[in-house]
Amino acid sequence: MGTKGAATLLAILCSLLLLSLSCGCLAPESEGDQTALLEVDTSWKAARKIPQTLFGLFFENCALGFEAGGPYTPSNIDPWSIIGDESSIYVKTERASCFSRNIVALRMEILCAKCPAGGVGIYNPGFWGMGHGFRKELIHMLVDLKPQFLRFPGGTFVEGILLRNAFRWRETIGPWEERPGHYGDVWNYWTDDGLGYYELLQLAEDLGAEPIWVFNAGISRNDQVDTTAIAPFVKASISLERSEWPLILYKDVLDSLEFARGSAKSTWGSVRAAMGHPERFPLKYVAVGNEDCDNTKPFYQGHYLKFYNAIRGAYPDIQIISNCDGSSEPLDHPADLYDFHIYNSANDLFLKKDTFSRTSRTGPKVFVSEYAVHVDGDTSKGSLQASLAEAAFLIGLEVNSDIVHMASYAPLFVNDNDRKWNPDAIVFNSWQQYGTPSYWMQTFFGESSGAVIHPVRLNSSYSGSLAASAITWQDNEDIFLRIKIVNFGPNAVNLTLSATGLEAGVNASRSAVTVLTSNDSLDENSFDDPLKVKPVKSGLPSAAEEMQAMLVPHSFTSFDLALDEYGELAADM
Ligand SMILES: *[C@@H]1O[C@H](CO)[C@@H](O)[C@H](O)[C@H]1NC(C)=O
Ligand SMILES: *[C@@H]1O[C@H](CO)[C@@H](O)[C@H](O)[C@H]1NC(C)=O
Ligand SMILES: *[C@@H]1O[C@H](CO)[C@@H](O)[C@H](O)[C@H]1NC(C)=O
Ligand SMILES: *[C@@H]1O[C@H](CO)[C@@H](O)[C@H](O)[C@H]1NC(C)=O
Repeated sequence: MGTKGAATLLAILCSLLLLSLSCGCLAPESEGDQTALLEVDTSWKAARKIPQTLFGLFFENCALGFEAGGPYTPSNIDPWSIIGDESSIYVKTERASCFSRNIVALRMEILCAKCPAGGVGIYNPGFWGMGHGFRKELIHMLVDLKPQFLRFPGGTFVEGILLRNAFRWRETIGPWEERPGHYGDVWNYWTDDGLGYYELLQLAEDLGAEPIWVFNAGISRNDQVDTTAIAPFVKASISLERSEWPLILYKDVLDSLEFARGSAKSTWGSVRAAMGHPERFPLKYVAVGNEDCDNTKPFYQGHYLKFYNAIRGAYPDIQIISNCDGSSEPLDHPADLYDFHIYNSANDLFLKKDTFSRTSRTGPKVFVSEYAVHVDGDTSKGSLQASLAEAAFLIGLEVNSDIVHMASYAPLFVNDNDRKWNPDAIVFNSWQQYGTPSYWMQTFFGESSGAVIHPVRLNSSYSGSLAASAITWQDNEDIFLRIKIVNFGPNAVNLTLSATGLEAGVNASRSAVTVLTSNDSLDENSFDDPLKVKPVKSGLPSAAEEMQAMLVPHSFTSFDLALDEYGELAADM
């Protein structure tokens, strides 16, 4: 009995405790608006230059899923669609093409004498085109992000589930109709490799971005070459057919570098020149593999050192990227940068915004080569909430850009007819495209690369839901102090901005504020409502060194204060 009484008392105490805990949690909701003070020290001595390379793009040849081909017929031509009805057209694949290395052809037989008004035919759900023939709307969306680098062609696409299905650059150059293509076993589709090594170097050139070539390091998701057999990967002497892999592998990174950088008279540079590009591509970054540094891949370190020494010897200026995470402890091998990949829930990513404030300041720089809100099994296609967490994480990268030198969202594109991974930045089909909130979030960071960052101090009882940074950047004519702030929480915030140390006046008439928000934090964009969540820019007549502003719940706000007579500072930048 006594025991029972004590247990009951304990239960009552516990529920009281729970009650008070939950009251504590609910309290901020019922308090309404929050207040916050954000102080920005714009003095020149406290400022630091952000690396020119900070924000770029990661292009993975994944989930494009529209290419038919392969050695077998009938070839899988899903998810292509027939235009007109099935009685008006007959479509099949057969081994009848005039290209000996690419034998599968698509046959269309038109069965209608009087065809329907809309015509008949077949469309594929997305087309990238060859060479510089990229789809304009899609490429403009990339240009608008002002990317400083392009990491390609993967991702796991580089590795393959099996080595024999990995990306091999030699098979992706030359006349595209002669490229054999290969089965991308990670993303489960046949790729014709029309968008190959050469085209991706060209894409980087078109975007004015540094190419970052990720090559297969003799390791796939499920098999790997022994380090004693890695030599042909480093320096090829023979070329063998893919069917002979992985018995003798010919992967050859030095040849790939000569293809990009060699003179037009060199063995591989002349191949590039014959394709119409006698000028060298300015390839300055390579990554040795993708996600290959973990204890299921014991050969990585051995392979890495062989590649490292070969590349450093032949091209001393090339920056070499290791897959091993050096953020918590130093690497045991030389590298210029190391990859860091992060996929988390929105709440966890928001909480990890300060990840790199504790990282050692010596040693290789950080390349956050894949980041996104992503949870396995979650079918979200990219919500406002996800973009806010990512914005906070990127603000953390700006603040730590003395050690973080590059960052890119993943994945960049998804074909809506063949969604292999959600969410993505840009969704397209054969004729439409839209940006997810994560795409629009990135447009707020386009001016950060190469800008100047200032220290900020946030004072608020609500600071656990806020993240902020301040930069000075310039466009052709003007200089702006840009203060970005994420309000990740459900409350409106009455914000006081205070910029100290400004050596120029703020011109309110040229200042602006841009806000990314929506009614519901789980709102997404779609083909039906492609701009439901998008940045909205307006004038900022209240702009001043000291100013008030309201941050709406679940929002990302960028204040651009135009600065007058900043000529001297501009010269410094
Ligand atoms: C933070 O704000 C509180 C209340 O607004 C104020 O009392 C305190 O002095 C501030 N702290 C700093 C460091 O500015
Ligand atoms: C925001 O706070 C300031 C004082 O810090 C106050 O003067 C102003 O009225 C508040 N604005 C709103 C909209 O609550
Ligand atoms: C602010 O900028 C506008 C537009 O460039 C200019 O006409 C105006 O004179 C500037 N105001 C001040 C106070 O410098
Ligand atoms: C948000 O709500 C307002 C008022 O209810 C409505 O007019 C507006 O269209 C909504 N916006 C979105 C993006 O749903």
